[in-house]
Order: sequence, then C-alpha cells, then structure tokens
Amino acid sequence: MTIDWMGRAVVQAAGLHPYIPGKPVETLLREKGLDRAIKLASNENPYGPSPKAIAAMQQASGEVHRYPDGDATVLKEALADFHDVNTDQILIGNGSNEVLELLIRTFAGSGDEVIYAQRGFIVYALAAQAAGATGIAVPELDGLSHDLDGMAAAVTKRTKVVCIANPNNPTGTLLSNASIQAFLDSLPRDVVVIIDEAYYEFVADQMGDSMLDLSHPGLVISRTFSKAYGLAGCRVGYAMADRVIVGLANRFREPFNINLLAQTAAVAALEDGDWVMARVAETVAERQKLETELDELGMFGGHSFGNFVLLRHRRSSEILRHLEDHGIIPRPLAPYGMADYLRISVGLPEENTEFLSVLKSIVGESEE
Ligand SMILES: Cc1ncc(COP(=O)(O)O)c(C=O)c1O
Repeated sequence: MTIDWMGRAVVQAAGLHPYIPGKPVETLLREKGLDRAIKLASNENPYGPSPKAIAAMQQASGEVHRYPDGDATVLKEALADFHDVNTDQILIGNGSNEVLELLIRTFAGSGDEVIYAQRGFIVYALAAQAAGATGIAVPELDGLSHDLDGMAAAVTKRTKVVCIANPNNPTGTLLSNASIQAFLDSLPRDVVVIIDEAYYEFVADQMGDSMLDLSHPGLVISRTFSKAYGLAGCRVGYAMADRVIVGLANRFREPFNINLLAQTAAVAALEDGDWVMARVAETVAERQKLETELDELGMFGGHSFGNFVLLRHRRSSEILRHLEDHGIIPRPLAPYGMADYLRISVGLPEENTEFLSVLKSIVGESEE
C-alpha cells in the first residue's frame, strides 16, 4: 500500500520550495562529459581558508570521536572579543543560514508577517514559509535597491521580523547606515530586524565598524565565515543581538549545531584577519576588472558590493548554456525573477580570465 506522505506532512511543508544551490562541479562534469570545471556560482572564497585554519582543523581531526562544545564557548569568546560585545549576545549557527532560520522561527509563526525585499536573499522567504508565517516581499525601487520606505509602509501589527541583506545577494546593492537607521527609527520597537551582513568584509573599508553602531531594540546583525573567511564547507555563521533575543533563539537551537572542526577553524580564521582581508582586497580588485569588462561587452548588470558581479543580457540563458559547455558554472537568477541576469562569483585571477575569454568567444560566435 502506498503511503500518502503529502497528507502526513504539515500543511506548510507541502507548499515549501527547496533552496536551489549553485550547480556542483561534479554534476556539470557528468552532464557535459568534461574533466574540469570552474564554479563561480556560490560566492565562495576561491583562495580557500587561512592556512592557520587548515592547520587547526588538521590538529583537531584526532578529536572528532568527541562531541563538540555544544555552547561553542571558545568561538563565542573569540567573537565577543573581536566585536566588543558579551558572549550572551552571540548566537552561533550552522552557517548564517541556520541563524536566520532560528531567528525567524523564534519570532514569527502562523498569523505573523515577515518582510523582506522581493529580490532579497531567498532564504528569508523559505524560512518564513517553514515557520508558518506570511512572507511579504516588497519590490525594489529600480529592480535592484531595497525600497526602505516601501518596506516601512508594509509593516503592520502582524509584522514580527524584517530581513535586509547589506550588501544584498543577489542584487549586490549596499544601503548606507544612515538610511538603515532612519528605517529602524520608523519601526515599532518590538519588530526584530535582521541586517544580514554575509558580505560585510567586502565593504569593511568603506563602512568600518559603523554597521555595528545601528540602534534599535530588536536589531540583529548576522555574519558568516562562509564568504570572506573561506569556510563555506564548515558551516559557521553567527548573529549579534540583545541577550534576550539570543536567549530565546537558543532554545530552538539543536545542542551540537556547530561541529568540532568548524569551531576550531573559525577561531583560527578569526585570528588571521590580515590574511583574510588581503584576499578580500584581491577579490575586490578582480571584481573591478570583471565589471569593467562586462561593461565593455554591454553586459554590465549593475555595480556589486559583494564578491560577485552581475551579467545582464536578454539571451542570458543561451550564455549560461555556452558557459556551462565550456566548464564554467555561473548562477542563473531566474528564481529571483531576474531572468536576464547571471550572477558570477569572483574567482581566482586565472579563473576570471578564463570566464572572460569564454564569454568573449560567445559574443564573437553570435556576431558571426
Ligand atoms: C545574503 C546571504 N546571507 C546568508 C547566506 C548564507 O550563508 P551561510 O549559511 O553559508 O553562512 C548567504 C549565502 O549565500 C547570503 O548570500
């Protein structure tokens, strides 16, 4: 007898859309019969983590028969020191993805609303849906930038959480601190506002620490070790907020959510900030090169403040296919309603050069 799994699943899960990640290298190799591919689809750090993080993981690998510290004490202390906050103001997650989900699940449920930009990071919508809350997607001003006035106007008595990625993925836009503070000042004090700073390090030279100076009782700043720190595979992210907010979210957290190697690597990576910021500088220089070239090809999709660039072309799906045929994996943005766009993560200099040369060969072919 077949089991009616749909009938057994909670109602909201039946309507959930899975997150679609960047295509893994192995998948493309199999699909196209290639022997190498360059993944520019998930905004990873192509240089890898700090050598000190690798060494720390190697050393800790003999300890993996033990459970990790369920409270991630050493990592929390390191982060508290780094950000000059108390350890009870830090929530650690299995990637910032888990942090976002924990916070949304803690503060929003059935009958509540979660507000985010229509082209904001897609996990906000998925997490709101999974929590049984209603997601309110506010269209961007010009298709790319957050409409903060529109988001403020969307707030109702049912609004429990607002999510803003700054810089935003996938649009690459950056909001000034002043505009975010004015937005926060217009909100009821009990609305939780998550400022998702997954790409913070790429704007640190312009913004400094000022992003931490924002003020609102329900303010949450989330960050990740997945991007600039090169630890996407380890899954470590965190948020900083009022200790009551952190305490509540912690009740939903599973006991050992950060594995032992990840905790060790994150502490070592944090200590090697100079190394990380040197890679960030290289990435920003490469991003400039890519954006200039895209502009010259008439494919520039708008300036990005993250570790990725935007390609815009009405035949973007053909470009996608050609790039994949040549072993290059970009990220199509159709799931964000941006069918003309591809998002290209900044790779190693030689990877970016190869991407550009394949792109130019496509332009050449289509002009013949
Ligand atoms: C804006 C933004 N927030 C959060 C995340 C989640 O990253 P992680 O779970 O790896 O920390 C990403 C990943 O792409 C992102 O782009």
